[in-house]
Amino acid sequence: MGSLKDSVTLVTGASRGIGRAIALRYAQEGAAVFIADLDLEGAEAVAAQIRASGGSAEACRTDIGEPKESAAMVARAADRFGRIDVMVNNAGVIRVATLLDLTPEDWDYNNDINARGLFFALQAGARQMQSQPLRGSGQGAGLRGKIINIASIAGRIGRPMFVAYAASKAAAISITQSAAGALAPEITVNAICPGIVDTEMWRKIDREWTASDGRAPGEAWADRIRSIPMGRPQTPEDLTGMAVFLAGPGSDYITGQSYNVEGGLVMS
Ligand SMILES: NC(=O)c1ccc[n+]([C@@H]2O[C@H](COP(=O)([O-])OP(=O)(O)OC[C@H]3O[C@@H](n4cnc5c(N)ncnc54)[C@H](O)[C@@H]3O)[C@@H](O)[C@H]2O)c1
Repeated sequence: MGSLKDSVTLVTGASRGIGRAIALRYAQEGAAVFIADLDLEGAEAVAAQIRASGGSAEACRTDIGEPKESAAMVARAADRFGRIDVMVNNAGVIRVATLLDLTPEDWDYNNDINARGLFFALQAGARQMQSQPLRGSGQGAGLRGKIINIASIAGRIGRPMFVAYAASKAAAISITQSAAGALAPEITVNAICPGIVDTEMWRKIDREWTASDGRAPGEAWADRIRSIPMGRPQTPEDLTGMAVFLAGPGSDYITGQSYNVEGGLVMS
């Protein structure tokens, strides 16, 4: 069995893209996976795929923009599987706009989910983890759980076309640090900062960006991926190694960190 045998994991936004890849990898590593997404049909399909391979999974519809729904999601996962060892706050959104055109609605669209929604989902997960017994991995007193936030390299370096999104992801990095301090030593909180990943999110970015500056569809994507030192676009699966590491015992002494996994775009 894999490195997450006997772990219970919850992944938000896991009906597609990065969240789906992490959910499938966690299942391969032996974890039970609770899949939460706005898109219930997509979430059910991922859960069915895991169960068909002999794993344990359940799906639920959740809007993490509503703190009460996040609390209900956590309660349902804990009720179904008994505890939550690992929570991945992956659900996120983006809307592209130039700085001068950005509206208050654009600002709220990005920040209500990526910052406010992420925080209240994390809070619900942390409350559940605090109520769980410690689990040991051999070193120290053990942990009650691990939280992994999916931020972005846009949270490290401002992006002119994604001002509100970049601010929301900088908030996700900051929340990771604050929560790590608040929840230590029993719960670890870390973040992963992906780069330019081939998912629906980037197809939306490309549509909105090229519509605003007159480039042909596909050109925003092509221009951005040309600058990746590793020489190819990132796939959702490229994030799964770090997601497994941060969920497993090898990262028990790591908290408050945000790791770039982006093919060398941001060398820091
Ligand atoms: N694609 C990239 O290049 C990239 C780069 C850096 C960071 N990220 C981040 O990675 C995460 C996943 O991105 P992706 O590329 O897989 O995006 P995606 O759009 O393909 O998938 C996002 C998923 O989140 C779900 N979701 C959206 N709003 C939700 C809500 N309110 N409640 C519950 N679920 C919701 C969607 O239904 C979808 O399944 C996001 O946080 C994103 O900001 C993506």
